[in-house]
Amino acid sequence: MDQDKKQPVANGTRNLADEDLTQAVLATFSNSKSERFQQIMYSLVGHLHAFVKDVELTEEEWFKGIDYLTRTGHITDDKRQEFILLSDVLGVSMLVIDMNNNKQFAGATASTVFGPFFYEGSPLFANGDNIANGASGEPCFMQGRVLSTTGEPLPDAHIEIWQADDNGFYDVQYKESSQVYGRGHLYSDSKGDYYFWSVRPEAYPIPNDGPVGELLDAANRSPMRPAHVHFMIKVPGYKTLITHVFKDGDRYLDSDAVFGVRSSLITSFERHEPGVAPDGKKIDVPFYTMSYDFLLAPIKEKDGHSS
Ligand code: BEZ
Ligand code: FE
Repeated sequence: MDQDKKQPVANGTRNLADEDLTQAVLATFSNSKSERFQQIMYSLVGHLHAFVKDVELTEEEWFKGIDYLTRTGHITDDKRQEFILLSDVLGVSMLVIDMNNNKQFAGATASTVFGPFFYEGSPLFANGDNIANGASGEPCFMQGRVLSTTGEPLPDAHIEIWQADDNGFYDVQYKESSQVYGRGHLYSDSKGDYYFWSVRPEAYPIPNDGPVGELLDAANRSPMRPAHVHFMIKVPGYKTLITHVFKDGDRYLDSDAVFGVRSSLITSFERHEPGVAPDGKKIDVPFYTMSYDFLLAPIKEKDGHSS
């Protein structure tokens, strides 16, 4: 189609100010190809214009905002996603997760932020293995069950696990090493049980050496997240669960930099003196145990997807 004829502008774009300008911009979306796109743009433009007026944005501030977003883009690559981090610290990620998971799939384990440190292709382990693979930290035996929201055990659930070591770093954050540790996947057994060894998680700061760190600093906000272990659980016919298990008693449970904590995801990591662990292994140093059951929601026909 001739580009000039593509989009008649309802009331013209000349000599407009304030309300008329907002209305004229909104009118440019009245011939949108998709209704949903139109709805989103109407709302986005309306809120954006209202925001600019509300704070009486100066030209200098407008440019600072453009510069901030430009730098956020420049630091983003296939290993670092600063825009998602920005969405996380602004609470947008948790808002979207809550609206699309926690409200719709009542009775299932709560979902929380994915975070930037997962990658496909983690090593396969068997139940009882140690996924730490050299990650520093105190030994911790983790176990539980994968169940449907109606209580039936789910065997062969694909369980991805990833966590930071006791320095607060994920394996991918050690630039000088490509060793994989503190991550892996395994399958629940015929009774829906899972169990493995790893290390006790510690609290750690989100990456704060870029634009998101500047924002936190300007707001006098802490970059800390409470200690947690990430889980992603997939079972055909069930809604994929992306969540964490948080360590009870952590000092950052009520000040998570990305608003990801739900009380239902907190469990105790119990300390034990050297001795025999729940899997019968003799452990000659103090160790920890944690237990957590995951509940997955069956997907109804109309949901039409498994993730
Ligand atoms: C994480 O838990 O790995 C994480 C989540 C959101 C932002 C940064 C890190
Ligand atoms: Fe994490």
